[in-house]
Amino acid sequence: MKSIDEIRKEIESYKIENAEAMEQFRLQFLSKKSELQSMFSQIKDIAPEERKSFGQMVNELKDKAQQRLEEYRGKLEAAACAHSGIADVTRPSRNIAMGSMHPISIMMNQVRRIFEDIGYTAVTGPDIEDDWHVFTALNFAEEHPARDMQDTFFVELHPDILLRTHTSSLQVRTMENQQPPIRVICPGRVFRNEAITSRAHCIFHQVEGLYVAENVSFADMKQTLLYFAQRMFGPDVRIRLRPSYFPFTEPSAEMDISCYICGGEGCNLCKHTGWVEILGCGMVDPNVLENCGIDPNKYSGFAFGLGIERMTMLKYTTNDIRLYFENDVRFLQQFKAATK
Ligand code: PHE
Repeated sequence: MKSIDEIRKEIESYKIENAEAMEQFRLQFLSKKSELQSMFSQIKDIAPEERKSFGQMVNELKDKAQQRLEEYRGKLEAAACAHSGIADVTRPSRNIAMGSMHPISIMMNQVRRIFEDIGYTAVTGPDIEDDWHVFTALNFAEEHPARDMQDTFFVELHPDILLRTHTSSLQVRTMENQQPPIRVICPGRVFRNEAITSRAHCIFHQVEGLYVAENVSFADMKQTLLYFAQRMFGPDVRIRLRPSYFPFTEPSAEMDISCYICGGEGCNLCKHTGWVEILGCGMVDPNVLENCGIDPNKYSGFAFGLGIERMTMLKYTTNDIRLYFENDVRFLQQFKAATK
């Protein structure tokens, strides 16, 4: 009996130049009566501890032979077409590997679409901002810890210039340039000087929203956010608002959704509480309206901000935020089905 090595060499060096040789090749290596086939039938006579590796080797040979056959079939077909001068229009097209959208983009677009459907317009703006748009206009006290070097990346030698820590800066920019009614969402990249771990990163994405008009109430905000949560996570989702604090909103709240994995029963994702936090929100502080040239006696509004990485991690149950920044195709290609 020929050794595996011998057969491998034969497969590799077999000259196939025409259809006849191709058929000979197929008979010799891939038909029912081929040497490879008889090797498969000998597997049962082989010592049990060697069976697995023997089987693997024979399978590899079979794959190799198959590959060569396909390769030559392609070549012969191409040659036939070239010869006749006519392309074979019945031939299946080549498989084009399609990319997929990044999960963060998928999620940003989904959030955007939901708000655009109810009349919000997306606005974008600079990643590199000044102190006024990120902090001062938003009612951050001079000594507020968020301004601290620990949280904010400042541009060296320019304490006034920094990387935005939230996209609320775009809300300021919008209010400065436009009178109510205002309905905007602000998607974008934000930066915070934090240690990188599985749960936190120094870069992430937010979508923040702002609605300012006459007689806007907390109830309007709650209804809007409920609508959002149900479109995002399904019609059975419930929300709850917990009191919180942000310098630019009063009152402020954090919003939880009922855990959409366990439906509120308690599971690992919601740490057995039945709820997961998804955003911060509140009624725009009158000082902020005033800072931006809007009359707080005439107008009121609400704002909210959500972290896209966090939501994406919840929606796709990924447990490490760093995966979103590594661009490992093995991770990214899992989002093909969600790419639209
Ligand atoms: N800007 C806040 C943050 O980055 C989120 C927020 C936006 C909270 C609007 C309330 C209102 O955490």
